[in-house]
Amino acid sequence: MSGHGTPVPMVSSKSGPLTGEANVPGDKSISHRSLILGALAIGETKITGLLAGEDVLDTAKAMRAFGAEVTEVDGTWSVHGVGVGGFAEPDNVIDCGNSGTGVRLIMGAMGTSPVTATFTGDASLRSRPMGRITDPLAEFGARAYGRTGGRLPLTLVGAADPVPVRYLLPMPSAQVKSAVLLAGLNAPGETVVIEPEPTRDHTERMLTGFGAEVSAEQTNEGRVITLKGRPELKPQTIVVPRDPSSAAFPVCAALITEGSDVLVPNIGLNPTRAGLFETLRDMGADLSYENPRDEGGEPVADLRAKFSPDLEGIEVPPERAASMIDEYPVLSVVAAFARGRTIMRGVKELRVKESDRIDAMAQGLRAAGVTVEEGEDWWIVEGRGFGDVPGGVTVESRLDHRIAMSFAVLGFATEQPVRIDDASPIATSFPIFESLMATLGAKLERV
Ligand code: S3P
Repeated sequence: MSGHGTPVPMVSSKSGPLTGEANVPGDKSISHRSLILGALAIGETKITGLLAGEDVLDTAKAMRAFGAEVTEVDGTWSVHGVGVGGFAEPDNVIDCGNSGTGVRLIMGAMGTSPVTATFTGDASLRSRPMGRITDPLAEFGARAYGRTGGRLPLTLVGAADPVPVRYLLPMPSAQVKSAVLLAGLNAPGETVVIEPEPTRDHTERMLTGFGAEVSAEQTNEGRVITLKGRPELKPQTIVVPRDPSSAAFPVCAALITEGSDVLVPNIGLNPTRAGLFETLRDMGADLSYENPRDEGGEPVADLRAKFSPDLEGIEVPPERAASMIDEYPVLSVVAAFARGRTIMRGVKELRVKESDRIDAMAQGLRAAGVTVEEGEDWWIVEGRGFGDVPGGVTVESRLDHRIAMSFAVLGFATEQPVRIDDASPIATSFPIFESLMATLGAKLERV
């Protein structure tokens, strides 16, 4: 598990041109949901394209601990589910490693079953807020006993006699929305979640695919999602699409390294996930969507990213934040090579991710010679233009895969190399990052 073993220092050096095809792994959000919904269905769900990263493997282990049979043969995963309300009580602590999505969705899925489970994770996950999940679960009738501030380790006593809930999301979080919907599966009647700002909608789409009755309507309050409780979920055959959040790294690396031309095939452009690519195009990036098509009801395209020496800083529309929340770290790297300021507002959720991502990036970028201003829910990167970012620093990845990969991308274009203190967290979401970037021609070495 990342961050528990020996650190893996890496040095990233000036690269380019990056060329070729970047086949990025399966979508992390959809991978977690495939395993969890498969475990809640009755019968066998088959999954291909699942992201075999540490986060998802921890969710697979957890599903086994709750009684589902989860196996893998030659990249095809099979989940024999126990049915809604059928979770068994685990006989040991559930360790979700580094994964906020894993632990939060699983707490939701078990919160309305008459079982008790204790959850923990690595140092990063143990520092993240869980009250955002245990508060709505308490409304269903569950009880949570955790550390001060609702931190892990935490014991959750599922509601034996759950009641349905109407919940207005206090923050734009698909994890909270999903936890409430998964809990609502085993509550009688209708569970309603209202999201004032749209967040990724994989849970709603996949619940519908598994046979649950879910509807969504836009009102003055926001998007009102209604789920009818106690469905029998039907097993599915799932092909996990490739992850736009992982695609972000080779795309951004190509934009800032001289002479590059990289194709990133088969990337989902669901509007709840594609905010980064729109933002890069707004900045003047040479980024095109080739072969646009529809796959399984989702817009998909092959992304082609070419070296873009004339990027301009912009103010990112704050209403776009949820659709690119995991991509701000790598956007801040691209912004360092643009001309002018890139202003990012409405992003306080970045402070409670695997690390405080504003602080982590701001400190590393400043050390590399870039001016960054920040406040609680905003930050501004002063672009220096292409060919003028010094680098020559050691930066901390803070148990955060996206911080480690963002700094790797930074080093591909700085004048002097960037040393990352520990690249091991990359394995949580993008285990082939190092080899894939090397195939494109990037200089990333273990030291
Ligand atoms: C995720 C939702 C996002 C995102 C995370 C994955 C999901 O978190 O940062 O990487 O799969 O639902 P929030 O919904 O808490 O913003």
